[in-house]
Amino acid sequence: MTTPTTDRIVVSSWNEWDPLRHVILGVADGGCFPVSEPAIHYDPVEDPAYAGMTGRLPQELVDRANEELDHVADVMRRRGVRVDRPTPIAFERPVVTPDFEHPSMLGCMPARDILLTVGSEMLEATMSYRSRWFEYLAYRPLLQRYFEADPRMRHTAAPRPRLSARSYKPDYFTTSIADFDRIISKADALDFVTTEEEILFDAADATRCGRDLFVQHGFTTNLKGIDWLRRHFPEHRVHRVNFRNDPDPVHIDCSLVPLRPGLMLANPNRPLVMEPGMEKLFERNGWEVVMAAKPAHERQMPLCYYSVWLSMNFLLLDPKTVIVEETEVYQNEQLSRLGFEVIPVPFRNVYAFGGSLHCATADVHREGSCEDYFPRQ
Ligand code: ARG
Repeated sequence: MTTPTTDRIVVSSWNEWDPLRHVILGVADGGCFPVSEPAIHYDPVEDPAYAGMTGRLPQELVDRANEELDHVADVMRRRGVRVDRPTPIAFERPVVTPDFEHPSMLGCMPARDILLTVGSEMLEATMSYRSRWFEYLAYRPLLQRYFEADPRMRHTAAPRPRLSARSYKPDYFTTSIADFDRIISKADALDFVTTEEEILFDAADATRCGRDLFVQHGFTTNLKGIDWLRRHFPEHRVHRVNFRNDPDPVHIDCSLVPLRPGLMLANPNRPLVMEPGMEKLFERNGWEVVMAAKPAHERQMPLCYYSVWLSMNFLLLDPKTVIVEETEVYQNEQLSRLGFEVIPVPFRNVYAFGGSLHCATADVHREGSCEDYFPRQ
């Protein structure tokens, strides 16, 4: 039976820019050191302070990250956004299924990776890393609350994958990072680590522009995953996209970022490849594609496994307001020049927990409805 509640909650979000009213923001608590698995190779940590460590990340890193996360929560609340936080589970415990065992999980900072909100639906992605198999449990208390509070909310989950050895190409990664070139040439030939054994996708591989969803095909999302999304959202147009020259093609939000109707930000180092016939989709519909400013940093934060292009991973509060990491001065300047009010916040201490501001959040409610921004297909 549904518990009656006085919460006035609306689940609805169709794009990345409409005025944000309600959001999930991750927490650093319980976050663990990543452990290599068939889907991803983590290089040994160079920093002697952390070499060889496993299990929970040190408490001082958790505290520093939480301080920055809590600050962003305050900034959003002061602007009238409701902010909810997930409930960590025992991420340091092993993941054991009939098909595999993995020593630990990752955490529940990057909410975007796992939850895809399309209209009144919040969809739990299959995920494609073994370490992330149980991550959805951290978000279940919130999703249950939304389900109870909003009679239109649809809580869905994609088919649970098996993630057996058959889901990955054996020995795709070797141990040397000098192998970037080899991985780039494989990835450019669309030879990715995941196979087509089963449906696989991460939610953060999708970006939403009303009726059009752009989904990155890469390490974390396979063609079956894109096909499943197409069949699951029959009223939408799901565009498969690839990026060249990317040694870690996971999650679209450092490669292609919609800013507002008619304006797209693209990564200058990763040329976008659209499906045949769709190469001119943006032009045909009067969208301008602007190349992102260069990142302010040459090296990533210790323990962060993503690239310096987290510079592009900001969060739009509405089509004129954006929260950006404060040291990303070039990105901030560019967004100001494009007419945005930029709210700078410190966020670099969160990176080791799985990314920046867009990764850290998942939409619950943005105003607005489902519009067609690309009528000329
Ligand atoms: N592949 C991206 C990069 O390193 C990182 C994307 C992170 N996004 C996320 N939602 N976790 O450039």
